[in-house]
Amino acid sequence: MCNSRVLEVKLPDKSYNIIIKKNSLDTFAEQVISYYGKDKKFAVVSDSNITDLYANKIINQLEQAGVKTLGIEIPAGESSKSFESLQKIFDGLFSFKMTRTDVIIAVGGGVIGDLTGFAASVFLRGVSFVQVPTTLLAQVDSSIGGKVAVNVPQGKNLIGSFFQPDMVLIDPEVLKTLSDRSFSDGISEVIKYGCIRDLNLFEKLEACGSRQGVMESIVDIIYSCCAIKRDVVQNDERDHGERMILNFGHTVGHGIEKYFKYEKYTHGEAVAMGMAFISRLAEDKGISQKGTTDRIIKLLSVYNLPVELPDMRWEDILDTIALDKKKKGDYLNFILLKRIGECVIQKESLEWLK
Ligand SMILES: NC(=O)c1ccc[n+]([C@@H]2O[C@H](COP(=O)([O-])OP(=O)(O)OC[C@H]3O[C@@H](n4cnc5c(N)ncnc54)[C@H](O)[C@@H]3O)[C@@H](O)[C@H]2O)c1
Repeated sequence: MCNSRVLEVKLPDKSYNIIIKKNSLDTFAEQVISYYGKDKKFAVVSDSNITDLYANKIINQLEQAGVKTLGIEIPAGESSKSFESLQKIFDGLFSFKMTRTDVIIAVGGGVIGDLTGFAASVFLRGVSFVQVPTTLLAQVDSSIGGKVAVNVPQGKNLIGSFFQPDMVLIDPEVLKTLSDRSFSDGISEVIKYGCIRDLNLFEKLEACGSRQGVMESIVDIIYSCCAIKRDVVQNDERDHGERMILNFGHTVGHGIEKYFKYEKYTHGEAVAMGMAFISRLAEDKGISQKGTTDRIIKLLSVYNLPVELPDMRWEDILDTIALDKKKKGDYLNFILLKRIGECVIQKESLEWLK
């Protein structure tokens, strides 16, 4: 069990570090100042839940170090991933007289990371930005890989870009203030990483047995997830091939989320149902090793994640998935497990799901 680990992301246009360190927010100003120096301005974007919990702490540290700092607060929630919030961020940055050499810091969950990253990617044609993810989902998934976006009435994440941060600073201690539901939401993605690439991680999660158990090994667990995502992103930054494996359970999961208008289930809950479903199907078709699905279901259940498809018309879910399918041609790429820790990408028509 260790307290800190660092991963380097090496991409053709940029290399940067993911620093996973317990209590790293206590020395946040020191870390960013040693990287950027003191003569830059910093804009810290957070949401209404995070300002008092963590962002103000960061702002105070920077100000005490003599650095010009601005705090920008966005209302908490998915509906803030919008053009309206973008404009609010831009208004703040302009009134603060930010220049292209200054720095934007995103402190929050995936909503703040995606929104702020997109703002950073287009403000003055791109300014430096730092990710400080504060949900488990953001620490293992959304802050890594450079996908940034906002939602539009036509759909989620449809306006965005690929824009890598200068660094990702992960303090696992902040997870202590997450609700159990939000923690489980992130664990669903952690279990996904174990399923697709890392039997050791999966076994570690089985051994942890609870949120408390996970927190005891949290640095190593986050490191394992980030390492898998880093490797996949390094091989396929723009999502044309291997990056698809991160979508295990997501095709059906997205269908469920959308069908219930993103209100009834969290992303992680929908993905949990999607993983259980697709795993069972692959096992029934002889693709996955026998027993794989029961093991996944048992682990998901430890974190109160749903594993049975909800009460809904299956045809409607298929219709929802088919809408995406039309955009991509006749076939969908399904991510299937051969066994826990090893997956394959298989092209199939939608009918294959029935
Ligand atoms: N860019 C990517 O690659 C990628 C990948 C997966 C998901 N996403 C996006 O991520 C978003 C979901 O992210 P999320 O689940 O982190 O949601 P979120 O950002 O809305 O955070 C969930 C809730 O937790 C609160 N919160 C955050 N950190 C907290 C903490 N430490 N203590 C207490 N409360 C805290 C937030 O204020 C919010 O109310 C979606 O918009 C999704 O599209 C992006």
